[in-house]
Amino acid sequence: MFTAQARDALYDIIRMRRDVRAEFSGEEIAEDVLHRVLAAAHHAPSVGNTQPWDFVVVRDPERLAAFAEHVAGCRRAFAESLPEDRRRTFDPIKVEGITESRTGIVVTYDPARGGKHILGRHTVDESGLFSAVLAIQNLWLAATAEGLGVGWVSFYEEEFLRDFVGAHDPVRPIAWLCVGPVSRLQEVPDLERFGWRQGRPLDEAVHLESLR
Ligand SMILES: Cc1cc2nc3c(=O)[nH]c(=O)nc-3n(C[C@H](O)[C@H](O)[C@H](O)COP(=O)(O)O)c2cc1C
Repeated sequence: MFTAQARDALYDIIRMRRDVRAEFSGEEIAEDVLHRVLAAAHHAPSVGNTQPWDFVVVRDPERLAAFAEHVAGCRRAFAESLPEDRRRTFDPIKVEGITESRTGIVVTYDPARGGKHILGRHTVDESGLFSAVLAIQNLWLAATAEGLGVGWVSFYEEEFLRDFVGAHDPVRPIAWLCVGPVSRLQEVPDLERFGWRQGRPLDEAVHLESLR
C-alpha cells in the first residue's frame, strides 16, 4: 500500500520528533501549514468518534508574554520544591519557548461531547482524554514532517489556562503547545542532554504475556 520510501519517512519522522524549547527560529508558521497540521490533529482516532478536542490558536504577542509569565512562576515553584542537587541539574533546563515560537496551540478536552452514551467509554472514562492526547501526537508528528518544532508546556495552573482561553467546566485545557519553524531539531532529548533523566531501552518496556 505504501512504498518503502514512504514507510521509512514515517519512521524517520517518529524518530526525529523532539520536544522543542530553544530551537525556534522566530518566524511565524504559514497559514496553510498551520491548517495542514491542525487537520492532521483532527484526523486522530477518538472513542465513540466523539472528537472531544478543540484547538485555540494564540498569536497575540501580549497574550503569549502573559502566559509565559504565568509559566515562569510555576517553574520557580517547581525549582523551589527540589532538593539541592536536582535543583542544580534543573536550573539550566529550558522548559518552554512560548514567545519565541510565536504560536501557541491550546488543546482542550470536552468530556461532555457526544452526550451520555459514548460507545467505548462506558467502563474506561479516561478514554475520552486519551483521544484528545492522540490528536496532540498527530499534530506533533505532522509538524515534524513540516519542519516545525513543537514544545509541550505543562507548567501551568489548569484554572489559569481555562480562564485564559475562555473554557468553562467541564472543558479542560490539557496542553499548551509551542509551535513554530525551527533552526534544527536536537538528536538527543533535552532532559537526557542535561542529565535530568535518561530514556530506557525498548527491551525493558516490552513484556511477554504479563508484567509479572
Ligand atoms: C504530557 C507532557 C507534558 C510535558 N511538559 C513539558 C513541559 O512543561 N516542559 C518541557 O520542557 N517539556 C515538557 N514535555 C516534554 C518532555 O520533557 C519530552 O517529551 C521528553 O523529555 C522526551 O523528549 P522528546 O520529546 O524530545 O523525545 C512534556 C511532554 C509530555 C508528553
